[in-house]
Amino acid sequence: MKRLFVTGAAGFIGSNFVRRALHLKTDWHIVALDALTYAGNLENLRGLADTGRFEFVRGDICDAAAVRGALAGGVWAIVHFAAESHVDRSIHGGAEFVRTNVLGTQVLLEQARQMGVNRFLQVSTDEVYGSLGPVGRFSETSPLAPNSPYSASKASADLLARAYHRTYELPVLITRCSNNYGPYQFPEKVIPLFITNLMEGQPVPLYGDGLNVRDWVHVSDHCDALLTVLESGVPGEVYNIGGNNELTNLQLTHTILRELGRDESLIRPVQDRPAHDRRYAVDFSKITRELGWSPQIRFADGIRDTVGWYREHEIWWRAIKTGEYLHYYERQYGAGGVNAPV
Ligand code: NAD
Ligand code: TYD
Repeated sequence: MKRLFVTGAAGFIGSNFVRRALHLKTDWHIVALDALTYAGNLENLRGLADTGRFEFVRGDICDAAAVRGALAGGVWAIVHFAAESHVDRSIHGGAEFVRTNVLGTQVLLEQARQMGVNRFLQVSTDEVYGSLGPVGRFSETSPLAPNSPYSASKASADLLARAYHRTYELPVLITRCSNNYGPYQFPEKVIPLFITNLMEGQPVPLYGDGLNVRDWVHVSDHCDALLTVLESGVPGEVYNIGGNNELTNLQLTHTILRELGRDESLIRPVQDRPAHDRRYAVDFSKITRELGWSPQIRFADGIRDTVGWYREHEIWWRAIKTGEYLHYYERQYGAGGVNAPV
């Protein structure tokens, strides 16, 4: 059995990754660590313990003793998803972003160094590169120029990961992916927010002129890229991951409206986000050329399936919107607390 340690496993991408990895890699055993902040949801991991190859530990990545305890017994690899991940929240207050994303990453890197691991995968974002004009794409050698407290904290974490590779030869791999969508995404991010608002007959708040561009990749394509990098990537290297699927927010909104049979009267233009990055676009030719990965899911199919998933999982997202999900932990494990509230 190969033992993996996955942080942030109760969140959107972490839970998709764990489910996919347990399905595809039948000789892997996963220990998951998650603090269950407002973004973590045990429901996202339902059924995985039945495999007999999955353990969940509630803990904070900033707590070195908790990390050391969870790592006891040794692991082959660490896959690090845990983060504060929402740009708008980081604009309202960056302290938690620095604590988890920067300090927490350093604590993990240090524990990984002390215990010795074969792989440390730092799951990062294309947002560390900042904003593009109408042409060009981010490559792995583009300068880091983050514009939000969120992206600045992720860039800092990437630099610490790089430094642990240089200084201690820790086998660090860094991936930088574009915007993800798919099942289990928390409905504060634009796609699930818009889908669930429209299902409730509510309007959708479109920032600024709606012409900011994002490159959308399905979460299962991202997870496959992470598995590829984990198994075949070269330590010390950075790999960009993208969907080759640029859309303005307005185009995206029209697609979602169409899928839900609604019209544009439900679009509410609202004040723009400060320092709103105009365009992200990723050159991911390196991972394709060197490791053979490319995205497989066409956006038209992926967004239809995603809308279908939110239709079929109304209980899941309604429990988030009412706050009921914050009590899942105490219900499953008894007294011991709720998630850190929103
Ligand atoms: P998410 O907000 O859905 O999940 C984050 C998880 O981390 C939650 O389960 C939360 O409880 C946990 N967590 C937060 N603070 C913690 C702490 N101090 N200790 C332990 N656990 C903690 O985020 P996501 O969208 O799944 O993103 C996962 C990772 O992927 C992040 O590092 C993010 O920067 C990166 N990323 C996300 C995207 C995207 O489009 N969502 C794109 C590229 C990269
Ligand atoms: P988001 O899902 O927050 O991801 P990110 O900021 O990390 O790219 O937002 C995606 C795009 O959608 C971004 O350009 C901001 C825009 N947006 C809206 O127009 N309205 C909203 O309510 C939200 C949350 C985002």
